[in-house]
Amino acid sequence: MKIDVLLGLQWGDEGKGKIVDVLTPRYDIIARFQGGPNAGHTLEIEGDRHVLHTIPSGIFHSDKINIIGNGVIVDPFILKNELDKLKVKGVDARLNLKISKRSHLILPTHRMLDAANEAALGKEKIGSTLKGIGPCYTDKTARYGLRFGDIHSADFADRYNALKNRHMRILGSLNIDPYSKELEKMPFEVYESLWFSSIEELKQYEFIDSELYINKALAEGKRILAEGAQGSLLDIDFGSYPFVTSSNTITAGVCSGLGVPPSSIGNVYGVFKAYCTRVGSGPFPTELSDETGEELRKKGNEYGSTTGRPRRCGWLDLPALKYAVMLNGVTDLVMMKADVMNEFDNINICTSYEVNGNEISDLTFETLSNPVKPLYTVMEGWKSSLEGLSNFGILPSQLSGYIRFIENAVKLPIGILSLGPGRDQTILR
Ligand code: GDP
Ligand code: IMO
Ligand code: MG
Repeated sequence: MKIDVLLGLQWGDEGKGKIVDVLTPRYDIIARFQGGPNAGHTLEIEGDRHVLHTIPSGIFHSDKINIIGNGVIVDPFILKNELDKLKVKGVDARLNLKISKRSHLILPTHRMLDAANEAALGKEKIGSTLKGIGPCYTDKTARYGLRFGDIHSADFADRYNALKNRHMRILGSLNIDPYSKELEKMPFEVYESLWFSSIEELKQYEFIDSELYINKALAEGKRILAEGAQGSLLDIDFGSYPFVTSSNTITAGVCSGLGVPPSSIGNVYGVFKAYCTRVGSGPFPTELSDETGEELRKKGNEYGSTTGRPRRCGWLDLPALKYAVMLNGVTDLVMMKADVMNEFDNINICTSYEVNGNEISDLTFETLSNPVKPLYTVMEGWKSSLEGLSNFGILPSQLSGYIRFIENAVKLPIGILSLGPGRDQTILR
């Protein structure tokens, strides 16, 4: 069997969590391959809203295995809180959650470093979620990191202290009080002791060599879906650097983040919103700083699932979408949230950019590092509710036209259409 992939084609928050939950019945295993608690994946099940940060979005299906892969970085305190919230909802993840021994640990001091780095950048800040993502992946790459597999070793506390002391020296040089804020508003010592007690609690869960488990499952014919976090335009290599996250969010990240060879990749579901949003700093060519942007934010409830920050909103950007489709080898497009634009008279769609007087229809290094003017095609809105629509054949003609326009530009069919946050508000072609 091959492993299918589901990931975001924009700047994150496309609605990945919802679609993973909808597709989970088709799979045996759901596996997160990168990112950490910077992610916030929302699932709405029978009107009840759940936000997952580290746990894969298949967790509400008790007969499916969920894996936190080696490419994911985990804050034990945040993971334990997520698990506690699931327990309240009657989900005992001890039965179907497995964690890679190779996944790296986010230390309390990683979070402090994140805050200190952002403070030092001032107006140039990345707009990080402040969950310690950059500093943790930095330590992984620099080979200082601690992994879940280390928690049972006799010298774990010593290794923790050595890394913490290293961080404290860096924090000292940044001239930022290391004992202040950003740790769930707790004093450092309190947070640190909760961090250690969370690790003790997590020892009830199963830690595995996830690469062995996953490859064996594929050989046995099990169906696996890899769940991405963030979005392709936040990828460390191909996103709008430096305003990106610190991992490979694209399909290539599945190979290193789960330990599967490229030849094992099957279908790739690319999820995008019918418009664009972005949280944090960085270029956003089609951003709307006017009433229309405000309307998208209000109607789309565009506030961060992790930080609550208002998301920046704008029109759909086709050069960026085509770029993401190319990088990921998308086979199936999934369009979300068209319902947010139900009342719009007209809808703009960016087909190219004007940069220094030249028209460019690709996303390039230059289009991300210069001021660009988006060039738009204006389309008529459908001006009607999409409530209860259950197949592509009965969509308003203007929405069908919008879909066809995108399909022609990207040269792929849109196979899944989401018209609301609920599981049942989804149309499959
Ligand atoms: P993720 O990070 O990609 O999983 O996306 P988020 O959960 O951060 O953000 C997506 C938001 O849109 C959530 O609040 C979802 O409940 C909501 N949502 C998902 N699909 C739809 C849709 O088709 N229409 C509307 N109106 N909301 C949706
Ligand atoms: P999901 O999985 C949207 C953004 C942050 C910031 C940049 C770097 O829910 O789609 P980081 O904390 O990684 O150092 O932040 O990336 N960002 C996200 N934006 N959705 C996310 O995840 C994000 N994860 C990180 O806002 O601009
Ligand atoms: Mg999100």
